[in-house]
This record gives sequence, structure tokens and C-alpha cells, in this order.
Amino acid sequence: MLGNFTYCNPTKIYFGENALEHLNEELANYGKNILLTYGSGSIKKSGLYDEVVKILSDNGKNIVELSSVMPNPTVNKLYEGCKLAKENQIDLILAVGGGSVCDYAKVLSVSAYCEEDPWEKYYLRMEDVDNKIIPVGCILTMVGTGSEMNGGAVITNHESKLKIGHVFGENVFPKFSILNPVYTFTLPKYQMIAGFYDIFNHITEQYFSDFDDCTSDYVMEGLMKSLIYSSRIAVENPENYEARSNIMWVATWALNTMVAKGKTTDWMVHMIGQSIGAYTDATHGMTLSAISMAYYHYVMPYGLEKFKRFAINVWNITPDNKSDEEIANEGLLAMEAWMKEIGLVMHISELGVTEDMLEGIANGSFICEGGYKKLNHDEIIEILKESM
Ligand code: NZQ
Ligand code: ZN
Repeated sequence: MLGNFTYCNPTKIYFGENALEHLNEELANYGKNILLTYGSGSIKKSGLYDEVVKILSDNGKNIVELSSVMPNPTVNKLYEGCKLAKENQIDLILAVGGGSVCDYAKVLSVSAYCEEDPWEKYYLRMEDVDNKIIPVGCILTMVGTGSEMNGGAVITNHESKLKIGHVFGENVFPKFSILNPVYTFTLPKYQMIAGFYDIFNHITEQYFSDFDDCTSDYVMEGLMKSLIYSSRIAVENPENYEARSNIMWVATWALNTMVAKGKTTDWMVHMIGQSIGAYTDATHGMTLSAISMAYYHYVMPYGLEKFKRFAINVWNITPDNKSDEEIANEGLLAMEAWMKEIGLVMHISELGVTEDMLEGIANGSFICEGGYKKLNHDEIIEILKESM
């Protein structure tokens, strides 16, 4: 049975090759002081930085720059941003980049006027926001996280070896996001495919839970099929607009909260993956791909019916004369073959994980209860060893 829920997604999306034009009309809604935040320079190389600065200047805005937001943004970088945003009385934080820059902008938006340590308040104590929030707008250049249309923000604390996500409420979602698939053409292949797997795993985290006949499951099967189809085209030809635009839109839908409504969700691959990220600083999507096969084979017996459905509906496995286990297993093998075909990392040792880290990674993996099997510490260790 579909559970009770409230659904609202306040982010306005501008999608397509001319989407940036809409920044002009959006800027009219905010004051003069804009904090322009971005990463290590890909937007300067592509020319997007110049285009954005021109629009901001033409609209008479004061630009305060905050660059070098790293992949897997850190708590120290957050403190730097808080100071700058408060000192300059920022009216809008404009994030130009991937999930890291968008996440960073969101957590900064709730932290600048927070009177306590935001890491402790939002990430250790998981408290709600009770102070002023600076509005955020995003211009997305890397596809995967869904950060452009959700309230998630993941921060890494290297000192305590923790990488934690806080899912903030609708008041922290970006006010608008500009999605132009062409911006993603310049992504290196490693980042592009890591993003593809991040999308896929966001869907499976929400699909592999519950056994009810849920509308969201049909939607997710469609999203997965679209992604698998388009990913193969994009790997061959990264500048195929049709494939890249479909993938961009799948990514947004995969994690804009809609498909999770009314059902339970898993998220254990992400919990273990984030802990791997805290130890290695590895690319997010690859931390997920590297443990997925071990994880899904481990939980398959507890959710056999759904894994069978996944095999048939997503991977076109024919069920004739096969046991449920055989069908489900063939589905996972087809998924593995696709993962290898597009070039994903399949082992955590390739990300720099060593045996002596496994205990710490398991300890740093938050245990969720929404999937088919609530894992304990020893089971996480077993999955990690299997993934080496
Ligand atoms: O630093 P720049 O120059 O921007 O380079 C980035 C970075 O090195 C580069 N890049 C981005 N767009 C590019 C480009 N290079 C060339 N051309 C372009 N068009 O790609 C690298 C990776 O970017 P990053 O933003 O780190 O990647 P991603 O979008 O995967 O974001 C990862 C972060 O998001 C979090 C992850 O944990 C990680 O910290 N997540 C956020 C979620 C959310 N908000 O809901 C959910 C996800 O599960 C995830 O946990
Ligand atoms: Zn993810």
C-alpha cells in the first residue's frame, strides 16, 4: 500500500541549449550581492564562467567569487564560505558546477547565519535549520547527483574521517536550476560514467525496498531503461545531444524526491560508499559501483521477488523454465556486464582502499533500515572484503 505523504518540489528548472538566458529574469528576484561559487576551473576553460559573469554584470550585480570548491566539499571550505557570505551580505548564492558545488552552495546557504558550528548542528546532530537561509540558484555542469532539484548536501570532514549527507527541507532546495546538456560535453569520461552510475544507484536505492505494486517502481524501471540505453550511446559519442539530454533529465528525476514518496528506501550502498569516500576522497559514483555487485548479491535472497522483477523488466531476462533465483541472478549479471561495458570501477582496491581501512569504513557507514536486509557491522565487513 502506498504510504501517506506530502509532495512539493519548489525548484524551477530551465532546460535546454538556451537555458542560460533565463538567468536574466531570475536575477531580477534577488538583491545586488551575488556569491558566485565554482570548482577548480573547468568553467573557465569551457567559457561558461565568462558568459555567467557577463550576465551578472549586465544586470548590475556585485559579484563576490568563491572558487576552488573541491569534489567532495570539506567542512573547512564551508567555514571559509560562511565568513565570506556573511561579510558581504549575500543575496543569492549562484553555484556553477557539479553536485559538489551545488551541495556546497546549499549547505552554505543554511550555515552562513548559523550561530553554532554547522557541522555539529546539521551533520552530527542532524538538526533542522532555524536561522536565515540565503537563496541558491544552480547552473549544472556535471550530471549525476540530482542536487540541482533536491535538498541534499554532502560534506566531508577529513579530520574525523566522516562523509555525511543532510537532507534539508524544501526551503533549502535551489530556487532555480539551469540545465544545458551541452555543458556536460566537456566532462572527462571517468567523471561522465561515474555520474551515470550515481544516477543508476539512486534509482536502485529507492527501487529495492517494499514488495507492493507501487507506481514509483514502474517509473523507476522506465528511468533505468532510458539511462542504460542512452549511456551506451554517450560512451561511444559523448557529444550526442539526445543521449546527454535524456541522461540529464533522468538524473534529476532519479533524486528529486518524487519516486521515493509513499515507499521505503534503502540507501546502504550510499552509506558504505560515502564512508569509502571519507577514507579515500574517491569519486562518488565509483565508490558506489565498486561495492554494488557484492552488496546486491548479498541482499538478493531477502528481496528475491523484486530482484526477479528487476531482471525481467529492466534487463529483459526471459523467465522460461528458470527458478526465481536463476532469473534474479541473471539480472544482476546483466547489470554487471553493463557496468563493465561503460567502464566503471568494480573493486574498492582500485580506489585506494587497503585492508587496514575496512574496520574504519564499516564503522563510518551509517546503517539504514529501509532495504531488504538491515546489515550489521560484520556483514558490512564481508561486503567490503568481497569488493576488494
Ligand atoms: O572543479 P571543477 O572544475 O568544477 O571540476 C569538476 C570536478 O573535478 C569536474 N567537472 C564538473 N563539470 C565539468 C567538469 N569537468 C569538465 N567539464 C565539466 N562540464 O568534475 C569533477 C567532479 O565534480 P563533482 O561536482 O564533484 O561531481 P558530482 O556531480 O558527482 O558531485 C559529487 C558530490 O555530490 C555528492 C557526493 O557525495 C559528492 O560530494 N552527492 C550529492 C547528492 C545530493 N545532493 O543529493 C547525492 C549524491 O548521492 C551524492 O552523495
Ligand atoms: Zn549518489
